[in-house]
Amino acid sequence: MTQSLTALLHRLADWLGSAPATAVLTGAGVSAESGVPTFRDAQTGLWARYDPQDLATEEAFRRRPELVWQWYQWRRSLVTATRPNAAHHALAALADHLSDLTLITQNVDDLHERAGSADVIHLHGNLFDNRCFTCATPYTRPVGDSPSPPDCPACGALVRPSVVWFGEPLPEAQLDRARFAMENAALVLVVGTSARVHPAAGLAVRACERGARLVEINPAQTPLSPVADLCLRGPSGPIMTELLSLLREGA
Ligand code: OAD
Repeated sequence: MTQSLTALLHRLADWLGSAPATAVLTGAGVSAESGVPTFRDAQTGLWARYDPQDLATEEAFRRRPELVWQWYQWRRSLVTATRPNAAHHALAALADHLSDLTLITQNVDDLHERAGSADVIHLHGNLFDNRCFTCATPYTRPVGDSPSPPDCPACGALVRPSVVWFGEPLPEAQLDRARFAMENAALVLVVGTSARVHPAAGLAVRACERGARLVEINPAQTPLSPVADLCLRGPSGPIMTELLSLLREGA
């Protein structure tokens, strides 16, 4: 850790210590060190290798339900084989040091939960949940490694993964909770997201416009960087670990 990064982390630890409420928004970058591919990183990102129009839209599922289903089954097996990394663990432990912390994620993986975070707001759904494509009834039976989507017991239509696809609205209850947390936070910590997808990224922008402190943790520049009060450049695992140890020292 460079000296200047350590100095910025001290400042962030002070801000966190005095913030009455904190909201954290995470993206695919927080799971990258677990081996889960991001979406937009060149070469390794999922959208560099696959076209979202073929795999992550209602139209794609209507056209080729098996292909879409199999792609999500592949992503499920990939995530199942990974483990939470230092950033997930540090974010879970942060809850013990801060009075009011809300964790909001755009990720559909379950790595925050497996690291011990409770009550995580999933803006883009959950990779391991399913629901009917037509009547939206949740499908709770195990799907194993089935290569084709099961039929909905309620209406007979096909079952789909319960994630948000391009062009679809976000789950209302989750979005409301995220908005509330962002509107009430004195500090918003944005970790590992390219901040290109709305409304998720817009929540952080609005919080900043309202006067919340905005801090970004990301190895790369994002559209949030110019308005952020602090940008910590680097991978989230080591940065979050160091931040947690500063908070522990100060406790
Ligand atoms: P992206 O792939 O767009 O961005 C990942 C971000 O993580 C980039 O800004 C990277 O610089 C950063 N990053 C990479 N490695 C990192 C590390 N070790 N530590 C911290 N940051 C790192 O992923 P998201 O911003 O999450 O939506 O994408 C948002 C949404 O777009 C996703 O939820 C998904 C996608 O289409 C849906 O599926 C609806």
